[in-house]
Amino acid sequence: MRMVDIIEKKRNGKELSKDEIEFFIDGLTNGTIPDYQASAFLMAVYFQDMSDEERANLTLAMVHSGDVIDLSNIEGIKVDKHSTGGVGDTTTLVLAPLVAALDIPFAKMSGRGLGHTGGTIDKLEAFAGFHVELTDEEFTEMVNRDKISVIGQSGNLTPADKKLYALRDVTATVSSIPLIASSIMSKKIAAGADAIVLDVKTGAGAFMKTEEDAAELASAMVRIGNLVGRNTMAIISDMSQPLGNAIGNSLEVQEAIDTLQGNGPEDLTELVLTLGSQMVVLAGKTDSLVKARELLQGVITDGSALVKFKQFIKNQGGNPAWVDDPKLLPQANFEIEVISDSDGFVSEIVADNIGVAAMKLGAGRETKEDDIDLAVGLVLRKKVGDQVKKGESLVTIFANREEVEDVVTMIKENIRLGSDVPESKLIYREIHN
Ligand code: URA
Ligand code: CA
Repeated sequence: MRMVDIIEKKRNGKELSKDEIEFFIDGLTNGTIPDYQASAFLMAVYFQDMSDEERANLTLAMVHSGDVIDLSNIEGIKVDKHSTGGVGDTTTLVLAPLVAALDIPFAKMSGRGLGHTGGTIDKLEAFAGFHVELTDEEFTEMVNRDKISVIGQSGNLTPADKKLYALRDVTATVSSIPLIASSIMSKKIAAGADAIVLDVKTGAGAFMKTEEDAAELASAMVRIGNLVGRNTMAIISDMSQPLGNAIGNSLEVQEAIDTLQGNGPEDLTELVLTLGSQMVVLAGKTDSLVKARELLQGVITDGSALVKFKQFIKNQGGNPAWVDDPKLLPQANFEIEVISDSDGFVSEIVADNIGVAAMKLGAGRETKEDDIDLAVGLVLRKKVGDQVKKGESLVTIFANREEVEDVVTMIKENIRLGSDVPESKLIYREIHN
């Protein structure tokens, strides 16, 4: 087989065989196919697209380019949740203990935040001593015993995806549905879950700006998952404004605790119950979404989800007493209110730019090497649709520097007021194929 023939075939819009796709991914991984041929291949895919069969074969070839996590020693159906990334998205911290409290194993590999989006591991590290460097044996034992554990990205997972992503970044081929869908799904499948719930975000803070694009990506990922034997479904949810009120690590942990106690923001609570119900159904606890939601609400009301959260924090080296007294979490030195200069209704909170404002305070990383400040961030006092009077606070800034004019300016530019209540929506649709 020759790479030049594979490129030509795709360039001409023909369907590639499993062997041809494997030849490409193997050669890319072991370095026998040069970057210029891989780049030409990516551009051909960008213009000619791929069939569902090709997308599934590309995904599996990337899965097998590196290590695959074996969760077979964990009892039960392992359901993973994946979000395409957002601002202030605290759902994993809430979903993990909720699902585990229903005896469904939550065995997740998680990452750190980059740019305007946060990462679950950074948030959990707001508990001093919390660590995700577990051996496979420790991870398996924790999940079998307590149904919950989060482990850091370890080993050599999907190296072909890392190489392809780096090339896509510099060849203008990132925004291609078959390439995005296979990239995301390869990582989920290599991480070992039996079933997958995808939270595909749409809006200003998301990768996919419109509902139609988000639905196309979601459907592509669902079809790949199901073709390779993982029960997969997707929810399209809103990321035109940040999720919940808190953005920043310690602040989001406090928000997650509030939500586990039944006092969380309405949108975060609703998204958690929506995604959680789908997870409960995929785990085989019930086939009714209504019943699944009741089960989840039950473990919030009776306090068992919060008990599970404490157990999780303790198992991985944190102090569970901090859950009862969140003031022990890292706290910022300064609280500054961003005051509205006018009356109106909030019409827009531009999620990605608000995420960047939090990053400027130190809540997120500009580059992978940056350190973050776990204490700092933003709490939104108003959300889209809320009425605002001149002189009221829009946002509270939690900072470890006294001078925050740059952040205040950025927030004011990105929270827009209008004269009437705009339409807003949290869950757009469910996608099963
Ligand atoms: N996230 C990924 O992991 N891969 C993509 O291609 C795009 C977003
Ligand atoms: Ca939040």
